Amino acid sequence: MSTMTKQIGENLKSSFTVLLTRCIKGVTAILILSALSAGSLAGVGEGQELYNAYCQICHGVLGEGQTMGKPLTDAPANRLADQELIDVITDGRAGTGMAAWEGSLSEIEIFDIASYIRNLQGRPALVLGDNDSGPSDDPNVIAGEMLFNGSADCATCHSYDEKGGSVGPSLDGLGSRLGDDALRQALMNPSASIVSGYGAKEVEQEDGTVVRGRFRNDSELAVQIQSEDGRRWVTYFKERVTAVRDLDESLMPDTFANLSVSEQEKLLAFLSSL
Ligand code: HEC
Ligand code: HEC
Repeated sequence: MSTMTKQIGENLKSSFTVLLTRCIKGVTAILILSALSAGSLAGVGEGQELYNAYCQICHGVLGEGQTMGKPLTDAPANRLADQELIDVITDGRAGTGMAAWEGSLSEIEIFDIASYIRNLQGRPALVLGDNDSGPSDDPNVIAGEMLFNGSADCATCHSYDEKGGSVGPSLDGLGSRLGDDALRQALMNPSASIVSGYGAKEVEQEDGTVVRGRFRNDSELAVQIQSEDGRRWVTYFKERVTAVRDLDESLMPDTFANLSVSEQEKLLAFLSSL
């Protein structure tokens, strides 16, 4: 471990001790927090500020996790449904370091923080009570959905109805967002235009290793890359890497172009139904 990482660890530990002492004082701590939350931080769209003020100490600047909290960008956290995410923040988890924030934060503030967590996870912001339109009975759409989740391997990187990966954009509403031509273009020639926010970066480390992935976050100290399989979010401290480069190429492979015409039609039918 570098001295810097250690230093960060030490700072966190001591901040946590302060926090713990406050928690033991119970009521006092809650009073302090509600006094803070009633101030300048209240309001819609303030999720990031609120997160940085209350959650980052345990969950990390980018949700990568810290000694006293868990990552909010890993698979279990991604699996939480919108309402579950709201509930964990509201009610906490009994017997763990995760306190209930109800009372310290308003419902809107909790909603904003939850939306910001989705943002850290690379997913769309929360929409509550938004039911999907129900399953289709068109056989092409059904076959296309099976391909999407099966052999065409699209679900590793893309989600719809809150299921699937986050390396590529969520495909909910795709049918109304992209016309036929634009959809074909996105599938046949992914690098021709890259969806904003889904660009790739390459990090060259001091030992010469090069890592490629979806660029997630940038701060003064570090850059964060999500691995191509979507499973790992890795934070690289800038002082410890040789170079960080933008890539012109899409992370999306040319799987679609290599499918048979009938498979392509099924997938297109499914994608247009989203
Ligand atoms: C004192 C440290 C601490 C603070 C501060 C804290 N958490 Fe947590 N949080 C935890 C721990 C520990 C867990 C894991 C609980 C468990 O074991 O299930 C957790 C769990 C969670 C989970 C569930 C993750 C999952 O994968 O199930 C969410 C969501 C979460 N916290 C959000 C927040 C938000 C939002 C805030 C700020 C309002 C916050 N936390 C503040 C310690 C903390
Ligand atoms: C390794 C990850 C990965 C896989 C696998 C993958 N994609 Fe993608 N996809 C991406 C990324 C990243 C983008 C955004 C960058 C871009 O525009 O090319 C994207 C973009 C798209 C878009 C454009 C979305 C928009 O909002 O404009 C569509 C449509 C799409 N992918 C469909 C698919 C389908 C269908 C499959 C399976 C045949 C698939 N993708 C497989 C990563 C992937």
